[in-house]
Amino acid sequence: MPTYQLSVNGESRTVNVSEDTPLLWVLRDHLDLVGTKYGCGIAQCGACTVHLDGQAVRSCSLTMASLEGKNITTIEGLSKDGEHPVQVAWKEVDVPQCGYCQAGQIMTASAFLANNSNPTEEEIKDAMHGNICRCASYTRIYKAVEIAATKIS
Ligand code: FES
Ligand code: FES
Repeated sequence: MPTYQLSVNGESRTVNVSEDTPLLWVLRDHLDLVGTKYGCGIAQCGACTVHLDGQAVRSCSLTMASLEGKNITTIEGLSKDGEHPVQVAWKEVDVPQCGYCQAGQIMTASAFLANNSNPTEEEIKDAMHGNICRCASYTRIYKAVEIAATKIS
């Protein structure tokens, strides 16, 4: 098995996995970072979203062969104590219902706001539209992103 080195939540990690192993399973099964969820496995739901060098990506569809030396941030590494503005706004609005999709929602929202801290309603909806919530918490998600933006800007 090849060896891969990557930075995960600021720590250097080494894993021995086959080159076609999806990042999602490396995070969950090898590094015990289970906040990142499996939804569809085909890049269609956003449950598995993490940051790759600051950009929101679908970890179910990225294989280790493309990740050597990259910086990954998962929901566990977004902030130390849940104090990232997006997490604070999520709590204020009480966004989650079952919670399953929420790590992915937060990782998408935080990457989006890092590049656009003063978004319009349309831009928020556009940025979040690929993250599916089977509990349909979309109205609260949009509201929380709006509030998070005010905390960031
Ligand atoms: S599990 Fe990765 S997008 Fe659905
Ligand atoms: S809160 Fe249940 S899937 Fe989104």
